[in-house]
Amino acid sequence: MPTEAQITDALRGVIDPELGGNIVDLGMVSSVAVDPDGHVDVGIALTIAECPMRNQIETDTTRKIKAIPGVTDVTITTTAMTKSQRAELMSGVRMRAREEAEPTQVSPLTRVVAVSSGKGGVGKSSVSVNLAVALQRQGFRVGLLDADIWGFSIPRTLGAQARLEADAETKLIEPATVHGIRVVSTGLIIDSEETALMWRGLMLSKALEQFLGQVAWGELDYLVIDMPPGTGDIQMALSRLLPQAEMVVVTTPQRAAQKVAIRVADMARRSYMPIIGVIENMSGFTCEHGDVYDLFGSGGGGELASDLNVPLMGNVPLNPAVVGGGDDGVPVTAGHPENPAAVAFTEIAARLVELLPPAADETCTGRIAKLLADLDVPV
Ligand SMILES: Nc1ncnc2c1ncn2[C@@H]1O[C@H](COP(=O)(O)OP(=O)(O)OP(=O)(O)O)[C@@H](O)[C@H]1O
Ligand SMILES: [Mg+2]
Repeated sequence: MPTEAQITDALRGVIDPELGGNIVDLGMVSSVAVDPDGHVDVGIALTIAECPMRNQIETDTTRKIKAIPGVTDVTITTTAMTKSQRAELMSGVRMRAREEAEPTQVSPLTRVVAVSSGKGGVGKSSVSVNLAVALQRQGFRVGLLDADIWGFSIPRTLGAQARLEADAETKLIEPATVHGIRVVSTGLIIDSEETALMWRGLMLSKALEQFLGQVAWGELDYLVIDMPPGTGDIQMALSRLLPQAEMVVVTTPQRAAQKVAIRVADMARRSYMPIIGVIENMSGFTCEHGDVYDLFGSGGGGELASDLNVPLMGNVPLNPAVVGGGDDGVPVTAGHPENPAAVAFTEIAARLVELLPPAADETCTGRIAKLLADLDVPV
């Protein structure tokens, strides 16, 4: 049976995008109760009853709690804060914002999507890049972080050659902008054996810390993170540094990959990262005569999704243009958006936006400020 402390810990991953803090520290969690049968009741006090963030906070809360082993169901009861509770919360928020420097440069408004898998070589990097391109083409502000510190492949796949440089004043690293995406990768930093050695000395999680804490990411709707193969350290470090991170799982169509499902579920549990959904990659290959060959089997994505109890977000066909795009630095979704693999990536990106909508920028305080400005009332 999950403990109340575990629930509270997970709730620290739910961010009120408007206030820029987690709902526990903001004092918005009014009660937590766990039944012996794993049913969790959470009370949330919203700043105002008709807060436009309400839906988002409720779905985020449900997702975070359901990721905890032993939880069977979640009920959320929302109430509205009294005027004095609200005043207290707002002054606390302002104080903290002044006192605490941001631990990372990633805005709490940015949705963080870690592209993971239970085993290597299934297409995480290809999916990350094409998903980022597809999101960018749909009008979102997108960042792409290559968290595969030593196995980096993002610079080649994107045709990125820029060297990252730090701003002299802020000392923050400026991401490279490629295909309209803000990109950071170890491959864009090392340029000599010497720097390589220096970086190699750093622990992997330290490198990730630097990428999140010392890069001027700016305002992004989505930060896509290409995770390294294997499960463990980097995932844990990521969820510690960015509690709002969630993952999508890439798998091949091969069936009976039970071990993979167990590994992924275990990874999600230990890092408290909810799983948004599964993407099946390298699905049926269509030859020039229109016949479809399931070279890597079929049904694996659906099977994994149902094992993990999350949606199958889509299937990306096996297509030479994915490899070609990766080799010549123009991802298929950017170079050949009509290609069936690109179409699949585009549909999957749209599905992602449905499942994990960008944090609304029409916030309560933002709207109130605008209203006041329109009324010409001095604030
Ligand atoms: N849908 C696809 N059709 C054809 N080739 C693909 C497809 N997806 C990926 N590939 C190719 O498969 C290879 C492995 O893909 P990728 O590097 O994206 O996997 P990965 O999971 O990131 O690997 P690693 O675990 O090593 O980081 C690459 O050569 C890539 O071009
Ligand atoms: Mg990779």
